[in-house]
Amino acid sequence: MAREFAIAVDELQQDQAVRVVIDGVPVAIVKDGQGEIHAIGDTCSHGAVSLAEGFVEGDTLECWAHGSAFSLKTGIPENLPAFEPVPVFVVEIEDGNVYIDPTVTKVVK
Ligand code: FES
Repeated sequence: MAREFAIAVDELQQDQAVRVVIDGVPVAIVKDGQGEIHAIGDTCSHGAVSLAEGFVEGDTLECWAHGSAFSLKTGIPENLPAFEPVPVFVVEIEDGNVYIDPTVTKVVK
């Protein structure tokens, strides 16, 4: 599958997450405090709620329900109760738009 349009860069505010659904895959698009844009699976691995409704803290997205903070770079939760990672996706920016391929996740070591 090819990359898909996710959102215009102008629609993203610093330290905020926006939920988009691409080919049925819910993704949180996040602009962090440094202005870097991330794409992370939008379903918390603990309680299946939307992470985009949570809080951007540094380079993590914190779940609003029970407070697990997921790394925007790896998808790995940094604290309980979640212990399973969520996927992170490669982001491409072109002509002021954000594109991702929801079938291609980053390889995290
Ligand atoms: S639902 Fe996200 S930490 Fe519990």
